[in-house]
Amino acid sequence: MKSTLSQQNLKTKQRGSAIIYVVLAIIALSLAIGFYFFEPKQPPSYKPQPMQLSSEKAETQPVQASLPEVTVYKSETCGCCNKWITHLENEGFNVVSHNVNDMNMIKEQSGLLPGLASCHTALVDGYVIEGHVPAADIKRLLLEKSDIVGLTAPGMPQASPGMQPEGLPPKGYDVIAFDKQGNTAVYSRY
Ligand code: CU
Ligand code: CU
Repeated sequence: MKSTLSQQNLKTKQRGSAIIYVVLAIIALSLAIGFYFFEPKQPPSYKPQPMQLSSEKAETQPVQASLPEVTVYKSETCGCCNKWITHLENEGFNVVSHNVNDMNMIKEQSGLLPGLASCHTALVDGYVIEGHVPAADIKRLLLEKSDIVGLTAPGMPQASPGMQPEGLPPKGYDVIAFDKQGNTAVYSRY
């Protein structure tokens, strides 16, 4: 009897420790699975940004970053139009150009009186830019947001961007501002 009892005790003990091992194994396994699937996410690291205290630096920020896109309408064969587009691109503008057959229709739709017309007609930020207007005037217009329809360099001024080698200063002509009523004013004198 005694031996049977102690054997039973032993068996119960063995069973008990076996159960403990199984429970421990299950816990370890679930922890492993838990860590595998629910890896703790790194908290977003905070990197302090340098503060800009000097107003001088703020002013030297390039204007180019916020320049709106320019849409140019031109005839397919216009060489000076392409050169003017290159001038704008060199000055930081993104240009989309369209070749059109009826430039007169574009000019009428843009509110350009015949005396104000040139080769190409461009649109930027709601303004009309006609002909060989220097990029500097367009940038000024975009900053000033004047209440006008747009700017024009009537005709084909010889010493203008697109008409002369790129980089030479514009010379000998006026850039004209015009409004809805057909009023005009000199915007820049070169
Ligand atoms: Cu031209
Ligand atoms: Cu042109």
